[in-house]
Amino acid sequence: MHSFRYVGRELCCEGVSLSALAKKHGTPLYVYSQGTLTGHYTGLDQALAPLEHLICFAMKSNSNLAVIRTLADLGAGFDTVSAGEIQRAVAGGGDPRKCVFAGVGKSEEEIAYALSQDIYCFNVESEAELRRISRVAVRRRRIAPVAVRVNPNVDAGTHAKITTGTYENKFGIAFEQVEGVYARAARLPNLRLRGLQMHIGSQLTDVEPFRLAVAKVAPLAARLNARYGFDFFSIGGGIGIVYRPALASADPAWWSTREGRAILTPQRYADTLVPLLKPLGLRILVEPGRFLSGNAGALVTRVEYIKKTGRKHFVIVDAAMNDLIRPAFYDSYHEIVPLTRRGGAVVSSDVVGPICESGDFFAKDRPLPRVAEGDHLALLSAGAYGSVMGSNYNSRPLAAEVLVHGRKSAVVRTRQPVEQIWAGEAPAPWQQRR
Ligand SMILES: Cc1ncc(COP(=O)(O)O)c(C=O)c1O
Repeated sequence: MHSFRYVGRELCCEGVSLSALAKKHGTPLYVYSQGTLTGHYTGLDQALAPLEHLICFAMKSNSNLAVIRTLADLGAGFDTVSAGEIQRAVAGGGDPRKCVFAGVGKSEEEIAYALSQDIYCFNVESEAELRRISRVAVRRRRIAPVAVRVNPNVDAGTHAKITTGTYENKFGIAFEQVEGVYARAARLPNLRLRGLQMHIGSQLTDVEPFRLAVAKVAPLAARLNARYGFDFFSIGGGIGIVYRPALASADPAWWSTREGRAILTPQRYADTLVPLLKPLGLRILVEPGRFLSGNAGALVTRVEYIKKTGRKHFVIVDAAMNDLIRPAFYDSYHEIVPLTRRGGAVVSSDVVGPICESGDFFAKDRPLPRVAEGDHLALLSAGAYGSVMGSNYNSRPLAAEVLVHGRKSAVVRTRQPVEQIWAGEAPAPWQQRR
């Protein structure tokens, strides 16, 4: 579900017209719905109520401070992948003691910083990393809480670039090796073996890979818990969302319809996994990113030109792959809708950005209402892996971001001034001009 819907002819986010926001703040513009973030968090929280649990928002999906604040205020922890993300979580009002720290390449400095912040746990991806964390902890006279990320070798059946739980991937430690790794970790100084972690991939719309992975790993968690006395088992993130308009709906009642049952609702996720997890008697961590933030955001863009070639009808917009790289990177689908709805013809259109790459597109041969120069469009479900993957390619400033709450809206990231793009750069001393 999400909170972007037409009121009359105008597309609104909660109680705010997107046309009004585009006029006030310019484009490209990310708009986030606080209500959607809250609704998704509480939906998952309630579904997991039979378990002692902690929802750690995977902030790599959207790390705007206002998004962090929304979720921190609801009690969320954070799944982080760099010292920068831990700092960001804290800057947004998150509690570092509810942060887990994942990633295959943690540097000594990052480990030292995380220890100084008293984080909940390091999710460890290799034995070399375990030894490094132990060394840094000894030096700093700290005890480091650690969990090994187990790679269960279960195919999530999702896009190759977002599958993480098979032996083809760089993530985690092979299922068969994990017990040996814990035995050796137990002999390393200044480590506390606090739990076990896994994550099999992203954008899973079927519960079956989760069930297979949990069914495989839960007995391992039970054995290790009996030996080392764990606090938690983390089943990672990956809950998929609806990107296709035929399936998406703003109406909560839709979740109980036939189409609604076909996708991965929090209740369906919980109903399948709780019976496997409850007997462990451990705190269960989940690390959703996209599920919380994906449908909470839209990217608003202005039509710059219409260009007709013999074969194509191009709608050239002012947003580009540097603002939203998912279509270019993963071939992903984003629903594209006009901010002001008009009747009339539908045209098979390619929606493209101004960047000098053929990959700079948002849709190809998509039936869209006919639009004209100066009209505005919204790319829906752009709240996850959208602005966080933004870049300055072609010296394009990062887009502004707005948070909506009911009838209120606020800029939560200003549009980047163009000079900031090259701040820190300078010609070499021998290139000085007299
Ligand atoms: C370890 C870990 N946890 C959680 C996530 C979040 O995934 P999603 O946004 O699909 O929930 C990721 C995504 O890459 C991840 O690597």
